[in-house]
Amino acid sequence: MRREKPDSWWIGAEQNINCELSVSTKEATGLLYIVMIRVFPFHYKLTKTSTYHIKILKQRAASVTNSRFKMAKSKFEYVKTFEQDDSCLQNCWIVVRVDGKAFHKFADVHGFVKPNDLRALNLMNRAATLVMEEFRDICLAYGQSDEYSFVLRKDTIFYNRRASKLMTTINSLFTSAYVFNWTSYFGPIQLQYPPAFDGRVVLYPTDKNLRDYLSWRQADVHVNNLYNTAFWGLVLKKGLSNTQAEERLRGTVAADKNELLFTEFGLNYNNESIMYRKGTILLRKLCKHPVDGKLRQVVVPFFSDMIAEAFWKEHPEVLGMKSLQIHVKQHEVNNEHSTNMETNKSDDINKSSNRTEELSKTSIRPADIPK
Ligand code: GTP
Ligand code: MG
Repeated sequence: MRREKPDSWWIGAEQNINCELSVSTKEATGLLYIVMIRVFPFHYKLTKTSTYHIKILKQRAASVTNSRFKMAKSKFEYVKTFEQDDSCLQNCWIVVRVDGKAFHKFADVHGFVKPNDLRALNLMNRAATLVMEEFRDICLAYGQSDEYSFVLRKDTIFYNRRASKLMTTINSLFTSAYVFNWTSYFGPIQLQYPPAFDGRVVLYPTDKNLRDYLSWRQADVHVNNLYNTAFWGLVLKKGLSNTQAEERLRGTVAADKNELLFTEFGLNYNNESIMYRKGTILLRKLCKHPVDGKLRQVVVPFFSDMIAEAFWKEHPEVLGMKSLQIHVKQHEVNNEHSTNMETNKSDDINKSSNRTEELSKTSIRPADIPK
């Protein structure tokens, strides 16, 4: 006959009986049997009667445990009602924007190149790519300086569209990815302290609103980058103090700054790196795998003008929420970027091109292949 071993349920039963039960004769007998089995495990064998009494005791223990659990649930459960429903309005584009906290200080402490640090921007792009790979309902991401905007499909049901869930998860993944990949971009330069990013959720009810939002962010990078290029040129190349440079630029418009850059530094602003001037747009595309030739979903960086209509015609899947477009073959992607390089003569696009290649190798998931 099988020997009954007291296990975890027994501990519960013991406690319950000690505390509050009026024990029936059958249950008491069951208890006695268990005690006997525990004390004389090699001498006492279970009989039909003892098994029956133990079964009764077990049932009783289970019912007490259940009723206690229910009691606890009903007594304290009400606190859940204090939580606010923050689910985003249906049929709206959801934008989550993260922005570096006090990055003017972070940039100084870590010796970022002025006005643009390629390592820092590429690290931002890497972190954002990881976020897009994780959250498949993000159809576009746009980054510049220390900020990144993530656009979720307007029909997303991800996390039941709960704003705080979406924002905090995207923000924390972005931040940890930034720290996780720091060494890949900054090599021996160690992080001096943990960076933080703030986050916000904004809803855009129409396609136009969304496009205007993205245009606003892209116009922002244009204004800031033109100013910063002129400002740091005056400070670093002409030896002006910060205040003198500020005074020199006060009241100038874009054309004046372009003129200043050309006359003072022989610099044509349009030849500056396109990533610095336009920011980085991340889109999902289907790319042919360089090894097996199969189509895979890949997050691809673009450096286009989102303010222009042409961008949205070239990438209709974003606003139209259509299935992903096939992107040019890998060697054509490289050609595309090398063409950019020729016009921009900048090292960053070259690296970005390598990055595209790297991306297509690393961010491949067989599950992504559309049926
Ligand atoms: P809060 O966002 O309000 O916390 O302050 P912040 O200091 O981060 O300012 P903000 O986000 O408005 O601006 C970003 C700042 O990050 C810039 O003003 C720069 O000082 C710094 N920054 C971002 N990218 C670069 C870069 O590539 N090089 C350098 N040198 N600084 C950068
Ligand atoms: Mg900031």
